Amino acid sequence: MFDSKVHVLDHPLLQHKLSILRDERTGVKEFREIVSEMATLECYEATRDLPLEDVEIKTPVATGTFKQLAGKKLAIVPILRAGLGMVDGILNLIPSAKVGHIGLYRDPETHQPVEYYCKMPSDIAERDVIVLDPMLATGGSASAAITFLKGYGCKHIKLMNILAAPEGIEVIRRDHPDVEIYVAAVDEKLNEHAYIVPGLGDAGDRIFGTK
Ligand code: PRP
Ligand code: URA
Repeated sequence: MFDSKVHVLDHPLLQHKLSILRDERTGVKEFREIVSEMATLECYEATRDLPLEDVEIKTPVATGTFKQLAGKKLAIVPILRAGLGMVDGILNLIPSAKVGHIGLYRDPETHQPVEYYCKMPSDIAERDVIVLDPMLATGGSASAAITFLKGYGCKHIKLMNILAAPEGIEVIRRDHPDVEIYVAAVDEKLNEHAYIVPGLGDAGDRIFGTK
């Protein structure tokens, strides 16, 4: 259905956790915890291509040559607000990653992204970046965030979502064909309010309890 740049991570643990997120009875605490756990699981796949280097280690038994991460510089960039819910889950696995923030909200009438905040690490252009947002709906917010990062000089950008609509995937593939997408599921469509159907509702409201 999608090309090799789109990774739909249909692991049983991700599918099970996503079903809990979808359930309208799931409360704020559990929703927040599961978003974070799913980010950790997705991070495992999104970092599969990290380079390794040899290192000599003396175990209690013998000395050998083993592998360690080659020290690639990474940054994660959550799209505020809902992307914040994924940050701790990623930092669990890559605690030394730097964190940039970009604030975008969707205009309720036009559904177009509006930028309201931005703070990036000073060396962001030298870092491989993973953009975080639980929801890829029209794709407008993620596409704008990626355009913005490219404007800063970022060359290697991945996008990590929990749930996507086919429309959003198509927009990212069209606007940013170099960007790999990691997502736990792709739903059927968008509704007239540009919400993902069947979806899980408003991720930001459900993470922060603001509905
Ligand atoms: C949501 C979501 C994405 C965006 C996705 O944010 O977290 O950022 O919508 O929609 P799109 O693909 O159509 O752009 P929202 O604007 O509701 O802001 P929030 O995170 O502050 O709740
Ligand atoms: N943003 C959300 O939080 N949910 C959707 O379904 C679409 C955009």
